Amino acid sequence: MIAVILVGGFGTRLRPLTCTRPKQLLPLGNTTLIEYMIGRLAEQGFREIVLAIGYQPDALKEVLGEGEKLGVTIHYSLEDEPLGTAGPIRQAENYLRGSGRFLVLNGDIVSDMNYQQILDQHRSNQATASIALYRVCDPSRYGVVDITSEGQILAFIEKPSAGTAPSNLINAGCYVLEESVLDHIPLGRKVSIERETFPLLCEKGRVHGWEHKGLWIDTGTPASYLEANREILAASQVGSSITRPMKEYSEGKYVQCYRPYIIGRHTKIGDYCEIGPNVTLGRNVSIGANTRIRDAVILNDAEIGEGVVLKDTIIGQGAIIGNKIRLEKFQLVGDRATVYPGAIVPPGARINPDEDFR
Ligand code: GTP
Repeated sequence: MIAVILVGGFGTRLRPLTCTRPKQLLPLGNTTLIEYMIGRLAEQGFREIVLAIGYQPDALKEVLGEGEKLGVTIHYSLEDEPLGTAGPIRQAENYLRGSGRFLVLNGDIVSDMNYQQILDQHRSNQATASIALYRVCDPSRYGVVDITSEGQILAFIEKPSAGTAPSNLINAGCYVLEESVLDHIPLGRKVSIERETFPLLCEKGRVHGWEHKGLWIDTGTPASYLEANREILAASQVGSSITRPMKEYSEGKYVQCYRPYIIGRHTKIGDYCEIGPNVTLGRNVSIGANTRIRDAVILNDAEIGEGVVLKDTIIGQGAIIGNKIRLEKFQLVGDRATVYPGAIVPPGARINPDEDFR
């Protein structure tokens, strides 16, 4: 079975971290988002993956190669211009024709979906398309389905205003599509699967919903990306003495680490620091004395000063954070930026890659 993953978006809501990499190369526990997604597909028997890429494609190719490390074969389908959420599927048709049906995933979802279940239901319904759905309290930020009690989807409503949604079931970014769907996606232009393809299929074919009830996080915003990181750290229990037989980082006196956390190789933690819970420290990070970090992701090679407080933040690769700086509530720092001691960082600030912030 073949799976297509859409990884061509700009990830604007996660800037400045996504100015210098596709969202899918952000860390997730001890791996990256895309390696986590492909790993889950491989575990469930998917051996061929088409990555629909466009934004910073070389970075993805460099990390993933042809997929050998992950036990899959990766084909790259490159877009010169972004083709939206359905256009890339048509563009990849050479890999998909002859498959009968295939799976499509948005490349920014962390979930424990069982793909076999949606496939089995798709077959027994003889559906043209089957869409994974997730139940949320407030569907107004999402694409919501109008669905019959038999599970047939009648319509899609994008971001309905409060109180008008026909259900609490949202599009969870995972679909099984029959090969014939390719004929309904125009070639060579941007096409939205939510706004164009699915509404057309609802009129012409059988579109069914399948409710996923486990873990599901759309990692598109800083808050949801940090939530995904929290879930993955908790699930893998990294930072426990059982899974961490050998310390590959060094720490000073009286350091307190609260689980879950993960600390990369060659990272140095100064005296009296408090690390965790819910912290990912990359490789070769240095942290000065008396610094407190929780609910944060710090990328490789960052230098964090003394007496710093970091909470609900993401710090880019090689960034330098001066002594006594406090960053919280999604103030974000891009790769190689410097925040100088004494700088007043405004709420919600996003400091660009290479910026000197004084
Ligand atoms: P924002 O800019 O923050 O909205 O993020 P995004 O660009 O990732 O957009 P969005 O979250 O809506 O995209 C959902 C999924 O579709 C992500 O995995 C994107 O990488 C992917 N995607 C969005 N647009 C395109 C595109 O034009 N081409 C391809 N191949 N993938 C896309």
